[in-house]
Amino acid sequence: MLRIALLYGGTSSEREVSIKSGEAVWAALERIGHHVLPLDIGSDEIGMLENEKVDFAFIALHGGEGENGTVQRRLEELQIPYSGSGPIASRLAMDKELSKAEFLTHRVPTAPYEVAEEFDADYRLRRMARRINWPLVVKPIDQGSSLGVTKVTCLNEVPDALGGAFKFGPRVMLEKCIVGRELTVGVVGNRALPVCEVIAPTGFYDFKAKYDKTAGTRYDTNPNLPGPTAKMAQHYARRAHHALRCHGYSRVDMMLDGDGELWVLEVNTLPGMTETSLLPKAAAQEGIGFDELVQELVDVSMEQRRKPVSNRITRILAA
Ligand SMILES: Nc1ncnc2c1ncn2[C@@H]1O[C@H](COP(=O)(O)OP(=O)(O)O)[C@@H](O)[C@H]1O
Ligand SMILES: [Mg+2]
Repeated sequence: MLRIALLYGGTSSEREVSIKSGEAVWAALERIGHHVLPLDIGSDEIGMLENEKVDFAFIALHGGEGENGTVQRRLEELQIPYSGSGPIASRLAMDKELSKAEFLTHRVPTAPYEVAEEFDADYRLRRMARRINWPLVVKPIDQGSSLGVTKVTCLNEVPDALGGAFKFGPRVMLEKCIVGRELTVGVVGNRALPVCEVIAPTGFYDFKAKYDKTAGTRYDTNPNLPGPTAKMAQHYARRAHHALRCHGYSRVDMMLDGDGELWVLEVNTLPGMTETSLLPKAAAQEGIGFDELVQELVDVSMEQRRKPVSNRITRILAA
């Protein structure tokens, strides 16, 4: 049994969700028999761990410093093994512009896009929008929870959408809107979990659809998908996970268009971890209970960190 620091809360816009993930993971770790040291990153400092002799840190934060690699870098400095991806992968996944570049390099299908800056002249913004064509989606580069994401169907709607996204930062993405079904695929270790479909009644998985129970969003862990779609979705999920150098686990969001083509939207390096969150739901579809999943996340994260890089390279060269 391990002494595990549980990092949750945080100061990002996703603090409330993180508290829920944290409570669920905390309960699971205790049921398994681990000794849990909870740290609300909103008020407690990670530095406190320096004198605590913990074996492992479970990161149940979402967004902000927990997801952009800052917390991971600090844990590296403290030489504490932790759950999930390292600082570089976290940063790449959090930044949709950097993610897109990696997706294109690693042949992960992703929708055409442009990046607008706050002081771009109107004519440039209009030209970008026309290049992508309608409908398109405007989104902040490094937010989560669908905050600042707007679907746009004509030029008149562009200024408001850009204004909403620029509230979160000086760079904003304009992306072709993929009309179709929304899928998400969890990756644990090196394997993809069963595909899950997100069915938002409005057709847009926005903040309300994500967190407000009255929105009526449904999640289908056994969706009826045409032909090889499920296998392809799992294939692209693993490819996207590796393209961003993710470790341990992640959840990859994608769209399936009317022609049966898949388009990866983003990789979430710290997906929701309440018992009803998507990754645990997908694991349950495979017969893996919540506690078992939490333990597996600890195991795969420890395992990957224990391997010295040179060993991995030797094995790759020998293969
Ligand atoms: N290109 C797109 N085409 C269609 N829907 C999109 C597109 N981009 C985003 N969305 C919708 O907006 C939601 C949030 O966008 P996403 O890129 O995943 O950002 P976030 O990091 O905020 O979750 C998605 O779950 C999806 O419903
Ligand atoms: Mg998303």
